[in-house]
Amino acid sequence: MSRLVMLGPPGAGKGTQAKRLSASMGIPQVSTGDMLRAAKKAGTEMGKRAEKYMSAGELVPDEVVVGIVKDRLTDADCAGGFILDGFPRTVPQAQALDDAGVKLDVVVNVNVASELLVERVTGRLSCGGCGAMYHKRYNAPAVADVCDSCGSELYVRRDDTEEVFGSRLAAYEKMTAPLASFYADKGLLKEIDGVGSLDEVQARLVKAIS
Ligand code: AP5
Ligand code: MG
Repeated sequence: MSRLVMLGPPGAGKGTQAKRLSASMGIPQVSTGDMLRAAKKAGTEMGKRAEKYMSAGELVPDEVVVGIVKDRLTDADCAGGFILDGFPRTVPQAQALDDAGVKLDVVVNVNVASELLVERVTGRLSCGGCGAMYHKRYNAPAVADVCDSCGSELYVRRDDTEEVFGSRLAAYEKMTAPLASFYADKGLLKEIDGVGSLDEVQARLVKAIS
């Protein structure tokens, strides 16, 4: 059983590594960012509400996100473990997981200096089909703007601008960074260096969780 949380600032590589780990371990990646973007694309009321916060780089209210995650974790594919990516992001969200009786095995904090983060985020290309992430310089697709995995067109996330990134980083520092000590106090926290090739970071992640 592996119940993991990927913690780290915007652009640290949480999604990139969670996808790789999900494929190798056979457990789902549960990304609140992806779920909120899917809700927006589907045009639901919740998606429309969330978009206002997301495009400004602010956090979506806890009660919205907690509800989505609690629902998702009751799905059958999460019974053998899961990788939470981008959740929890506030102490009340972490408390809500605890209160719901969700036991975690390990929380990995991916560390990357902020001057590298902005470059990663502003160079990111995301797949509209399968959700894979690329980078114009560091992880370019074989054919420009086309996903290597599923052939769908790549797009630039609306919040991947330098300006919105500044707000996202500020939200992270104020609301999410305190979770490192929250989980360290519970003996669950592992720190990894998120700088290096995708394979190098993956090797550190695998070591940290084993
Ligand atoms: P979310 O989608 O979670 O965005 P985020 O936390 O800002 O994180 P990112 O997805 O930007 O970064 P990542 O760490 O996944 O990095 P990635 O692997 O893509 O959330 C978006 C918004 O939704 C939030 O702002 C908020 O409004 C809302 N939201 C979501 N969850 C919420 C919650 N729980 N509560 C409240 N609101 C919530 O990599 C980034 C780039 O770097 C890519 O281009 C990638 O190719 C590249 N890269 C990856 N690894 C490396 C490497 N080792 N070397 C070089 N480049 C690399
Ligand atoms: Mg992500």
